Parts: sequence; structure tokens; C-alpha cells
Amino acid sequence: MRLGSSGLMLLKILLHLGFSVPLLWLVWGVLSERLGGDPVQYLIHYTGKGALHGLMITLLVSPMARWLKLGALMQCRRLLGLWAFVYAVIHLMLFLSLDLLFEWRLLVAEVIKRPYLVVGMTALLILLALAVSSPNRVRRKLGHSWQRLHNLIYVAALLVPVHYLWSVKSEILEPTFYILICVWLMWLRRDKLKKLLSRPLNSGA
Ligand code: HEM
Repeated sequence: MRLGSSGLMLLKILLHLGFSVPLLWLVWGVLSERLGGDPVQYLIHYTGKGALHGLMITLLVSPMARWLKLGALMQCRRLLGLWAFVYAVIHLMLFLSLDLLFEWRLLVAEVIKRPYLVVGMTALLILLALAVSSPNRVRRKLGHSWQRLHNLIYVAALLVPVHYLWSVKSEILEPTFYILICVWLMWLRRDKLKKLLSRPLNSGA
């Protein structure tokens, strides 16, 4: 199957719409006060889920490109990864502003009380490193290290559903479902992961 440059452009536009329209809907929900009885929780959950979905879709691209024999799809990975990062940053900002009211002392207390926040922070730092190193210019500068850095996406993809599962008190069905999807996404690239895990950490490539 082939995807011409206009097909790829159209796909990218659809993906941008797919991530920006839900954010606009959220803004509208806030303005029209339609986010239910606990709008702060709603906003934090909505953006956390959006980030998780973005991350999972990003990881689905390369298996899909292989199944559909559509190499051009790989050019959508950066766009998707950056949207996952945007949602994660909004998620964090909403938590810091609406939940903690930017009280930095509270953050330390919250982290001690809710250790799953450390897991979320670690995942966010990984997404930050991937976003900052995503421009082609930086990629060229980093050479081989770029791929090694970007392999950290697999760590983030495992940390995020753990952050989710750990954050819930009783409703474990949905987060467990997300963990299973992320494990499946890892299983699809088991050969690559086996190679990565068997390689000594300080080895070159
Ligand atoms: C500094 C980083 C982060 C902080 C402080 C943070 C904070 C939170 C908080 C406060 C909750 C709500 C827990 C509750 O119900 O009481 C939450 C849930 C969640 N977070 Fe994060 N998070 C962070 C990073 C991330 C990242 C990077 C992702 C995804 C890429 C993510 C995805 C989620 C998801 C999916 C949920 C569950 C949403 C739901 O219950 O519907 N978080 N996070």
C-alpha cells in the first residue's frame, strides 16, 4: 500500500484535529460548567487519559506500518509523541494549579502521601527528554545516542499505566486493561526489547 505526500498531509491534519478538538471541547466544558460535580478531578483525569492514549497510539504506529506495509506512517510518530507530551504537561499544570494551588511545600507532602506521583513525574521527565530531542537538528547532533534515548519511551509506556493503577483506590479494571494494552505493545516488539535488555548498558550502539 502507498500513501502519497498529500495522503500523508491529510493524515497529519486529521491527527492534529484528533488531539486538538478534545482540548477545545474541554475548554468549552469548563466555560459552560459542564464538567460534573468535581471539575478539577475531571480535568486531571481527562488530560491524564489523553496523554496515555497519545503514548499508546505513538507506540502502535510502527507495528501498524509493518502490518499495512505503509512506511510513510512512521512520519507521524513525532507528531503523536509531541501531542502525548502536550497532554501530559497540561495534566501536570492542572494538578499543580487547581489541586495544589502552586503551593510547592504541599507538593512534597503530596509526593510522600501519593508515591504514584513519583512514577508520573519520572514518565513526564522521559517524555520531556524525548520532546526536546525530537527536532531533526538535535537528532543529527545526538547520532547513535538519539535511538538509545528514544528507547526510553518503552519505560514511559510501562510507568504511565502503573501510575494510573496506583492512583485509583478501587476501580482497578480499567487501569488493568491499559496495563495489558501496554504489555501487548511491548510484546509486539519483543525481539527488539530482548536485544536491548541483553546488551550491556555501556556498550556502543
Ligand atoms: C509530574 C507528573 C504527573 C503528576 C504530578 C500527575 C498527577 C496525577 C494525579 C493527581 C492524578 C489523579 C489521581 C486521583 O484520582 O486522585 C493522575 C492520574 C492519572 N495520570 Fe498523572 N501525573 C503525572 C504524570 C502523568 C503522565 C506523564 C501521564 C501520561 C502520559 C499521566 C497519566 C495519568 C492517568 C492516565 C491518570 C488516571 C486518570 C483517571 O483516573 O481517569 N500522568 N495523575
